[in-house]
Amino acid sequence: MNEKEYNERLNSLLRFSEQIVKIEDLDALLDQLLLEARRYTNSEAGSIYLVEHGKLRFAYVQNEKQTHLGSGKNRFLYNDITIPIDESSISGYAASRHEMLSIDDVYNIPDEAPYKFNTKFDEQTGYRTRNTLAVPLTTSNGALVGILQLINKGKDKNYCEEDQLYLRHFGLIASGAIDRARITRSVFTRMLQMAELRDPKETGAHVNRVGTYSIEIYQAWAEKRGVDEDEMRAFKGSFRIAAMLHDVGKVAISDKILKKPAKLTDDEFKVMQHHTTYGAGLFDQTSSLLDEMSRDVVLYHHEKWNGTGYPNGLKGDEIPLTARIVSMADVYDALISSRVYKSAWSEEDVDNFIREQSGTHFDPELVEIFFSIQDVIRAIRVKYQEAS
Ligand SMILES: [Fe+2]
Ligand SMILES: [Fe+2]
Repeated sequence: MNEKEYNERLNSLLRFSEQIVKIEDLDALLDQLLLEARRYTNSEAGSIYLVEHGKLRFAYVQNEKQTHLGSGKNRFLYNDITIPIDESSISGYAASRHEMLSIDDVYNIPDEAPYKFNTKFDEQTGYRTRNTLAVPLTTSNGALVGILQLINKGKDKNYCEEDQLYLRHFGLIASGAIDRARITRSVFTRMLQMAELRDPKETGAHVNRVGTYSIEIYQAWAEKRGVDEDEMRAFKGSFRIAAMLHDVGKVAISDKILKKPAKLTDDEFKVMQHHTTYGAGLFDQTSSLLDEMSRDVVLYHHEKWNGTGYPNGLKGDEIPLTARIVSMADVYDALISSRVYKSAWSEEDVDNFIREQSGTHFDPELVEIFFSIQDVIRAIRVKYQEAS
C-alpha cells in the first residue's frame, strides 16, 4: 500500500469513527458496523455475535446475495443462536484466543484444526460460504465485546494482511461504540420498565411495536424523499428509542387517573394531557439527537394535523415529523390490539379509521406510506405479540 492509499484509508476510518458515535441504538449501530467492515473488505456477507453471559450470542447478519428473499431475509435477524466461547467453532476460537482467524476454504478445514465450520446457516439459506475472517472485538482495556465474522471476500480473493490491519483498528472503535450503545439501551430500557410499572396498559410489546412501526414508516418516507442512506441509518438509530418513549411522561400522573377503570372526566383528561409536558421535561437538557427526538415525540405525539391536538395545537408541518409518525403508529396499535378495558377492532375498521383521519388527525402523506408497507406492519405485529 502506498502512502496515498494509506492516508485515504486512515481518513475513511476517522470519518467512520465520527459517524458511528452518533448512532445510539444498538441494532442500528451493528448494522452500520457490519456494512462498513464489509464495504472495506469487499465481503458479501457477515455477522456479529455479542458476548452475553459468557457465551457468544448471534446479534446481527447481512448478506447481499439474499436480496431475492425481499423483506423476508430479515427473518434471519431474529435467529436465536448461542455459541460457546471455546475452540470448537470458528467464532468461538477467535473469541477464546482473542485472535483473528482467517480461513480460505471453510469446507476444507484440516482435520487437526480444533474448530469446525457450522454448515447449518448455509443449509438453511442455500448460501455457499467459501472463505471467512473472524475478528474479535476487544475494547482498549482488553475486554471481549463480541466477534465480527466476515464471509466471502469478493472476486475469489482471500482475506489478506491489509484487511487484518484495518480490522484491528476497526475492532477497537467498534467495541467501544457497542459498549456505549449497550449502556444507552439499558438506561432507556429501565426508563420504559418504570413507565410500564406505573401504567400496565403501556406494555413492553406495545412500545416495541410502536418503535418498530415508526422506523419502518420513517424509512419508507425517507426512501420516497431520497434521503441519503447514512443519514437515514443514523436517524433510525435514535428514532426507535424515542418512539418507544412516547408515553414516558405518564410516570408523573397519579394512579387515580392513570388506573381509572372508567372514562376520564373532563378535568381528569386535562391532567392526563400533562403527560406530554411532564415527559418532555425529562429531555430538557437536549444534548444529543436522541434527547432532541425523544423530547419532540413525547411533547407532540398528541398533536393533530389539523391543529386540534394538544398540548400546543400545532398544525401540519409545524409538528415534527417524528411526532407525526409516532402519533399514527400509536393510535393504530391501540386500536388493533386488545387491552384489558377494550377488545381489538377488526383490521378493516382500523384501516377505515386511519384513512378517515387522513388530513384531520394524521399527515396524509404518512397515511399513504403506512398503507404501502402493510406487509411489514403485519410482520411487526406478529413478532411483538402480547405475552399471555
Ligand atoms: Fe400519550
Ligand atoms: Fe402508546
